[in-house]
Amino acid sequence: MSTKQSAKRSLNGKVLLVCGGAGFIGSNFIHHIFEKYPKVRIINFDKLTYSGNTDNVRDFVKDARYTFVRGDIADQKKVTAVFKKYQPDYVINFAAETHVDRSIHVGSLEFINTNIVGVFNLLEAVKVGGTVQSFVQVSTDEVYGSLALDSEDKFSEHTAFAPNVPYAATKAGGDMLCRAYHNTWGVPVVVTHCSNNYGPRQYPEKLIPFFVLRMLEGKTLPLYGDGNHVRDWVYVLDHCKALELCLLNGKPGTVYNIGADNEMNNREIADRILKYFGKGKDMIEFVAERPGHDRRYAIDASLIMKDFGWKPEYLFDQAFADTVKWYTQNRKWIERVRRKTGVFNPHIDLWEGHKNKK
Ligand code: NAD
Ligand code: DAU
Repeated sequence: MSTKQSAKRSLNGKVLLVCGGAGFIGSNFIHHIFEKYPKVRIINFDKLTYSGNTDNVRDFVKDARYTFVRGDIADQKKVTAVFKKYQPDYVINFAAETHVDRSIHVGSLEFINTNIVGVFNLLEAVKVGGTVQSFVQVSTDEVYGSLALDSEDKFSEHTAFAPNVPYAATKAGGDMLCRAYHNTWGVPVVVTHCSNNYGPRQYPEKLIPFFVLRMLEGKTLPLYGDGNHVRDWVYVLDHCKALELCLLNGKPGTVYNIGADNEMNNREIADRILKYFGKGKDMIEFVAERPGHDRRYAIDASLIMKDFGWKPEYLFDQAFADTVKWYTQNRKWIERVRRKTGVFNPHIDLWEGHKNKK
């Protein structure tokens, strides 16, 4: 790590409130922070929705530095009580409804409650409580909409919001509230927009773990539409390190884009997974297009690189292979998730239902 990349402040001796810390990125963040700051106190406030998983943070259950509070960020009373009781110095929000297909096929109300009302409650609590030095709202590049496949454009912090699916629209709503709370009341909030993450402990509705599970079950890999949609893949620990810098060094009111300059289309991801499992392309199946499907994401991360010296450290080939291996070696984790939540992907469920009726 370059000296410029180091955090200006320390979390040792501080109280950090992590909302949504039982999910994919939040739990990886908690692991990273405990390793780096052995004297931090972490309060993990999580509703434990279908994607929240206490197995993801089981290493800390008996740790005196760690407290788990089950609760909903959309519940204002509960949020206020947590702020009052723990008086956090730092807050980071991973709590969200995150799956695009669910926002289309299952419904958008939960997305509005968590991603907009929940963020509003956190901003209010930070504003009223007055103890918080920095609040990071973890958002997504999906708020910017879609880029053309044949362009070299990238999303910068100045790209206008143009969300195409309900999930992205609700994330944009939360981000706009952050902007307004900073400009109106000086709430010390930093908003981040990252592209697609991969790594261990991701709920298997998302592309990479979903495809690995399909391979483990001897099933085909379903590509939506023509499979040429591009995502800019970031290893989850690179994202977590960027978030740590935003939390400790970020100037209130700033927005940072985070990406690894690692564009790849879904066919290439499928090919890599097939190669890992020694399977041929006959295991690919093209299925119905996702409504509102964004064509391409690409991130211009030059601002966070310039301001904090952050850069991605993990090389895709190795980190991708390690990620696939993690799912193959953690079958118990998969089986417990499966028993708890059942169906992983409503888009594929619908499609398989139609196919079986024919
Ligand atoms: P996830 O679905 O794995 O985890 C979400 C967590 O939030 C779960 O533990 C869940 O129980 C909790 N939660 C949901 N609603 C809640 C509520 N109302 N109150 C309290 N807790 C609640 O999601 P993730 O992939 O870890 O994403 C975390 C954040 O990062 C999200 O804001 C998402 O928009 C953003 N993001 C994700 C990616 C990605 O590729 N996964 C990329 C960029 C940004
Ligand atoms: O860009 C960041 C976003 O990345 C996050 O904000 C979201 O929370 C996260 O879900 C992710 O959104 P995507 O829609 O890009 O991720 P998903 O894993 O659902 O799909 C990735 C691509 O793969 C997308 O083009 C759809 C396609 N896909 C996905 C699945 C699950 C398939 O072709 N087949 C599939 O079975």
